[in-house]
Amino acid sequence: GAPVQADVSKLESGQRMTVEWRGKPVWIINRTPEMIERTEGFDTSRLADPDSEEPQQPAYIEGPLRSIKPEIGVIVGICTHLGCSPLYRPEPDAEGVGTDDWPGGFFCPCHGSRFDLAGRVFRNVPAPTNLEVPPYRFDSDELITVG
Ligand code: FES
Repeated sequence: GAPVQADVSKLESGQRMTVEWRGKPVWIINRTPEMIERTEGFDTSRLADPDSEEPQQPAYIEGPLRSIKPEIGVIVGICTHLGCSPLYRPEPDAEGVGTDDWPGGFFCPCHGSRFDLAGRVFRNVPAPTNLEVPPYRFDSDELITVG
């Protein structure tokens, strides 16, 4: 599939947009400073693969935020369990996530898998791995090419 370009100039802080790449939804999230802090300071004992040792991301992606720039997250929006699209529930204790003590992130309504704001999977959920980070680059501050 061809690479796809995304313009993030109108993506407000805290918001998410979706582009399609190879028939898959790719989320681009503009994380607020608070969301960045929350992800970097996350209790990693709650995560199955906090250091992304399973290769669900390009080699140049590293760190807890799993992104090139701290604020901009680029994540394939397909649950690694059976392929549903998880819901964006960035706020702690959001409603409808089927669990108490929700720290904010992505919730898969199909079988209850949970992911943090970097797409890292929680322990004890059906999804076996972190969400995928696709190959991408910044062409400018506002233009991202995915693929
Ligand atoms: Fe997401 Fe099963 S498809 S939890």
